[in-house]
Amino acid sequence: MYCTRKVTDDIVWVGGNDRRLSVFEGVYRCPSGVSYNSYLIKDEKTVLMDTVDSAVSTVFFENIEHELSGRPLDYVVVQHMEPDHSATLAELVLRHPEAKIVANAKLAVMIKQYFDFDLDSRLVSVKEGDVLETGRHRLTFVMAPMVHWPEVMVTFDLTDGLLFSADAFGTFGALDGALFADEVDFFRDHLDEARRYYCNIVGKYGVQVMALLRKASGLKINMILPLHGFVWRRGIGDILEKYIKWATYEPEEKAVVIAYASVYGNTKNAAEILACRLSELGVKTYMYDVSMTTPDHVIAAAFKCSHIVFASTTYNAGIFVRMEELLHDLAAHNLQNRTVAFIENGTWAATSGKLMREIVSCMKNMTLIDSTVSLKSSVKPEKREELALLAEVIAAGFRKPVVPVDPAALAAIEPTAFNKLSYGLFVLTARDGNKLNGCIINTAQMLTDSPKRITVAVNKQNYTHEMIEKTGVFNVSVLTESVPMKTFEQFGFKSGRDAEKFLDFGDFEIASNGVPYITANTNAFFSAKVVSAQEFGTHTLFVAEVTEAAVLSNEPSVTYAYYFAHIKPKKNAAPAQKSGWVCKTCGYVYEGDTLPEDFECPICKHGPEDFERVEAEAKPEGHKWVCEICGFEYEGDELPADFECPLCKHGAADFRQVY
Ligand code: FEO
Repeated sequence: MYCTRKVTDDIVWVGGNDRRLSVFEGVYRCPSGVSYNSYLIKDEKTVLMDTVDSAVSTVFFENIEHELSGRPLDYVVVQHMEPDHSATLAELVLRHPEAKIVANAKLAVMIKQYFDFDLDSRLVSVKEGDVLETGRHRLTFVMAPMVHWPEVMVTFDLTDGLLFSADAFGTFGALDGALFADEVDFFRDHLDEARRYYCNIVGKYGVQVMALLRKASGLKINMILPLHGFVWRRGIGDILEKYIKWATYEPEEKAVVIAYASVYGNTKNAAEILACRLSELGVKTYMYDVSMTTPDHVIAAAFKCSHIVFASTTYNAGIFVRMEELLHDLAAHNLQNRTVAFIENGTWAATSGKLMREIVSCMKNMTLIDSTVSLKSSVKPEKREELALLAEVIAAGFRKPVVPVDPAALAAIEPTAFNKLSYGLFVLTARDGNKLNGCIINTAQMLTDSPKRITVAVNKQNYTHEMIEKTGVFNVSVLTESVPMKTFEQFGFKSGRDAEKFLDFGDFEIASNGVPYITANTNAFFSAKVVSAQEFGTHTLFVAEVTEAAVLSNEPSVTYAYYFAHIKPKKNAAPAQKSGWVCKTCGYVYEGDTLPEDFECPICKHGPEDFERVEAEAKPEGHKWVCEICGFEYEGDELPADFECPLCKHGAADFRQVY
């Protein structure tokens, strides 16, 4: 029975899925299968964009016959002659002898190499920039040699902005009903397989991929329709961003891949010691046992990460066979621009380090760390020290150089000017397993309306930052003018590393992404998943797609200015009883004549620049209370139990005695 999916009003997906494929191209294991996409354009003329692998031919022909509904097939455009897209071409010609075959000259040669049917009588030969008019659609052809074979071309529909991209933008994995990338959580669930597909299938041809992307940059692309995997109709910029990184061999992540080959576990032991030291230094690591993990997975990780450590035992006076295979495979896939270190092992004559170094040194723009950690059989104390030193050397490359600040430039910046910007205030929340956490930010912004995206800038020191970086999801709760100071104390003045912020805080619910949002003194919340992150010194700017949003009340949102005027406790609210230094942020008083240069406020963690000098004053007559909600001050002998704040209408319970 046919099984098709509508792509646009007059284009339908007529491909098929193979979940029994054990190895794609005889090399790559595909536990999630693979899809072979083909698209039928139902215009005044009918056009089939490529055919499929013979494994899915039955449903493919049922799809075509159903969608044609008796109409003739006018054209089949052949973009790529690898048999996963062309194996059923001969049968298509038998079933539809009326179809013209649209192909470039190189494709025509390959069609004749693979098949014996009469091509010349039905060939429509095209070259770069030629246009095929099919009624409403106007298809133009763009040559894309070596993406992934020399004959490849892609097709651009000038009418609707559709890029039929051949192998480019494909991914491993069958389509489980969802055809469009926005119907799944692509960057969470499918990016790894897209990267493995790219690196192993076309990773070698970065220059050619960039040439195609440069041609595509002049086109207004509304949709990308590849021959494997998902169709892109939203977030095209996000997958293009990944492709540019992969094609230019730029790492996506500052992290270390440790690939080891170990016969009896001693080289593995060294690799794990190194991984522990690196983790202690804050460096992210990924480990692979090359005897258990096939090279394509390690290649994908190597494309993703900035650093690689190869650790191999010596075997037959050479490199252990699986490691040697991996290294040659990495070289064949043209990996570049990485920093690489080596660990070798050999009970009587260790040679693997030197030999691994020789292979990697032939690859482009590789920075090789000079010293190889050389083991004899097992790790001894001095080798443990060498591994720790290697970790230090690698980690040093992860630290950003400190750029000195020009004092003259600083003098031209009045810090309080930033208080005039109309920021809101928000609780940014995240979840990692059972750990709930949140912090106060003033940096949530709407970025785009379509797609619905927001940005948040988060201090890297914050535990919430670490959780978002790990999980890729967060919520933003918009605080209102009624928010009490204690909310800021709860989420802003302590670290989630030391405190369970939600343990004694009841005003929250769990959104459908599993992350808490604040229900008191808030007027809306947003759930979002990160689509990109960029580091800016102390902060990371997360760009995120909104997955859920709701209005919680109609109270006005609190602004930074309102916070300073009405919520933040006033400095000097209480006459100083002793001389010292008062924190301008939270009111903490350091008693003493001199504030240490490296002093950090124990409450809000601000430094000496946020403290100012106070001198002891004579204690005034009577007492003073301050409303913790709005800052209103009451002076008298006693605060009446039924007192109501004349400004914000809160009761005596919300007042704090100042003196
Ligand atoms: Fe999907 Fe190059 O074939």
